[in-house]
Amino acid sequence: MSDSPDKSIARSPWRLSVAPMLDWTDRHCRYFHRLLTRHTLLYTEMVTTGAILHGDQPRHLDFNEQEHPVALQLGGSEPADLAACAKLAEQWGYDEVNLNCGCPSERVQRGAFGACLMAEPQLVADGVKAMKDAVNRIPITVKHRIGIDKIESYDFVRDFVGTVAEAGCEVFIVHARNAWLQGLSPKENRDIPPLRYELVHQLKREFPHLTIAINGGIKTDDEIAEQLRHVDGVMVGRQAYHEPWQMIGWDQRFFGEANPPAASREAVEALWLDYLDRQVAAGRPWSQAMRHALGLWNGLPGARRWRQVWSDHKLKALSPREVAAMATQARLTAAEIASQHPAFQAPVSV
Ligand SMILES: Cc1cc2nc3c(=O)[nH]c(=O)nc-3n(C[C@H](O)[C@H](O)[C@H](O)COP(=O)(O)O)c2cc1C
Repeated sequence: MSDSPDKSIARSPWRLSVAPMLDWTDRHCRYFHRLLTRHTLLYTEMVTTGAILHGDQPRHLDFNEQEHPVALQLGGSEPADLAACAKLAEQWGYDEVNLNCGCPSERVQRGAFGACLMAEPQLVADGVKAMKDAVNRIPITVKHRIGIDKIESYDFVRDFVGTVAEAGCEVFIVHARNAWLQGLSPKENRDIPPLRYELVHQLKREFPHLTIAINGGIKTDDEIAEQLRHVDGVMVGRQAYHEPWQMIGWDQRFFGEANPPAASREAVEALWLDYLDRQVAAGRPWSQAMRHALGLWNGLPGARRWRQVWSDHKLKALSPREVAAMATQARLTAAEIASQHPAFQAPVSV
């Protein structure tokens, strides 16, 4: 598997994806990411079956047509509930339903789903089967860890994948570290348990007919390409969120497109401003959407000033275009100062 735009590989929907991230990958964020890459698969935040079945369905499920391909991630464990939600997801137009078997939060553990489901592979298999029976055309996939607590053996994750695959799941997205269910916060659980990519590569070797995507700590495009030599896909989380401009090269490098979806950051910003205008016209504060785009200029001089202006609470009552004008002015001024005083460039550009 190479990172050349080989068509057979490029067709895999899981070749590259942006991870589900609670509070982050909402519909605004996904719309923004879609301005930067047309082909990368985008995941929703985790939505619990309870929220969908007993809550405000449009609030949890609505998305923009432009977001395709887009996958709904479910949190839950009761097969009948998962099946009902998968059916709704298909009706709503999602391209995939993904089951969360990797979240270690205490709230999720109390609900007996997320990472603790890795201890109950048969229950996951039953849930997958129920979801598969409930949908007609979309795939059911599972996102999980390599282990829970101190279970370090490869056999544990191999048996989990084997059992769930027997129920008909063909796609596994593996966060290559354990979830420690006691004593670590969800944030610590994304950094402290060591990454063990080799176990995920081993899964691919042992289950060559399954689609195996890897996740966890993967940052640069070269790292993505290196992983694609071993597995079918790479899921990127925090790096994509914090450094969104990196995604502008993905369609060309990983999907064989001749051109990026936008020619410049200015062009992306212009399209994004149109989107913010539509939010305001619909009665929604633009800041809810804008928080996901604050990294657009990262890496260039003036990025910090641009972010500061957009984050200034005193400006929230202005229109997006008024704030954009001020933010651009501040960015260009900071860049100008940085060019005249190279010694100051580093802090300004962070
Ligand atoms: C703010 C935040 C929220 C997250 N929420 C979810 C979630 O809802 N579902 C899920 O499966 N993983 C969630 N994750 C974990 C990510 O999907 C991913 O597995 C993890 O960040 C490791 O990938 P990365 O190193 O590329 O960020 C979340 C991560 C972050 C940073």
